[in-house]
Amino acid sequence: MKKTTRAMLKALTEVNGVPGFEEDVSVVIQKYLPKSVEVSHDRLGSLICTKTGASDGPRIMIPGHMDEIGFMVKLITSDGFIRFAPLGGWPDQVLLSQRVIVRGRKGDVPGLIGAKPPHLMSGDERGKMVKKDAMFIDVGAKNEKEVTDKLGIRVGDPIAPDSPFGTMKNKKLLIGKAWDDRVGCGMFVSILEALEKQEHPNTVYGVGTVQEEVGTRGAQTSAEVVKPDICLVVESGIAADVPGIKPEETQGKLDGGPLLYVLDGGMIGHRRLRDFITDIADECKIPYQLSLLTGGATDGRPIHLHSAGVPTIFIGVPVRYIHCHTGIIHADDYDNTAKLITEVVKRLDANALKSIIGHR
Ligand code: CO
Repeated sequence: MKKTTRAMLKALTEVNGVPGFEEDVSVVIQKYLPKSVEVSHDRLGSLICTKTGASDGPRIMIPGHMDEIGFMVKLITSDGFIRFAPLGGWPDQVLLSQRVIVRGRKGDVPGLIGAKPPHLMSGDERGKMVKKDAMFIDVGAKNEKEVTDKLGIRVGDPIAPDSPFGTMKNKKLLIGKAWDDRVGCGMFVSILEALEKQEHPNTVYGVGTVQEEVGTRGAQTSAEVVKPDICLVVESGIAADVPGIKPEETQGKLDGGPLLYVLDGGMIGHRRLRDFITDIADECKIPYQLSLLTGGATDGRPIHLHSAGVPTIFIGVPVRYIHCHTGIIHADDYDNTAKLITEVVKRLDANALKSIIGHR
């Protein structure tokens, strides 16, 4: 992995952007875009990065969502604690004692999701999971007035996980938060960068979508602007190579190459598009993994149903510990995914599109 790519991934995983509050992520993406890319937006804030190739070629949409799962201030208690509403799917058991950042009107405020010490728990309590409704955020304030007036926090303010980027002892294993889906945001930037030096018989739209984690909303609105002929969703996939995940649940491992999803909870991966991609992977000797999820959906759900239908596939970089404060990716998986999609884009001309749609 190139140094600049690693620096971009550090910046992308450390920036905060929960659903509805993605502007800071958009700014980071734009900082790393190559010069020939034109930038526009949909009206909800999705970022559309256009790289024009041959004018009569297909319109290829490559969406990666900018939002990460987070929270919103629901209530400030009289004794100065914050009750929160989740934005996106958080499992309760990953939340206690995690650091967060509350974005108030006077700037960022560090906080901690409070937890009761085991010393005070009854035997019954110890065995039970604490639900997020019972949790609160401690921002170190004495009372409600201090939260609202001194810290500038009010109901509706966004709350994001606070989790610095790093590596394991093996420097190819990158640790960070929000790989879902900052890995996809980085991915379309890397692809656009690779296309700087190449001819491509199409127009590529790297799209940083908004509000994916609350129902793939920005994908729907940005597709109205892009009007894609074909779509490659760049997302975090699930690395199942950890204790507790059975092969019949899902498959995929770190350092196994990009995951091509034949099925997820919102879409059937387009069959001929999948074959087009795996033929190129075989030709270029790029590893890949076929996988399947019965739950969860991606931006592919609304996009493949756009207009008269858009051949779409979900391509995932394997991530361990998705929808947690911290996850792990392998640098080679990232690079191989970027390489594969770039090779696909280079070959995706009007004839290829026709054969992928392939009516008979
Ligand atoms: Co995602």
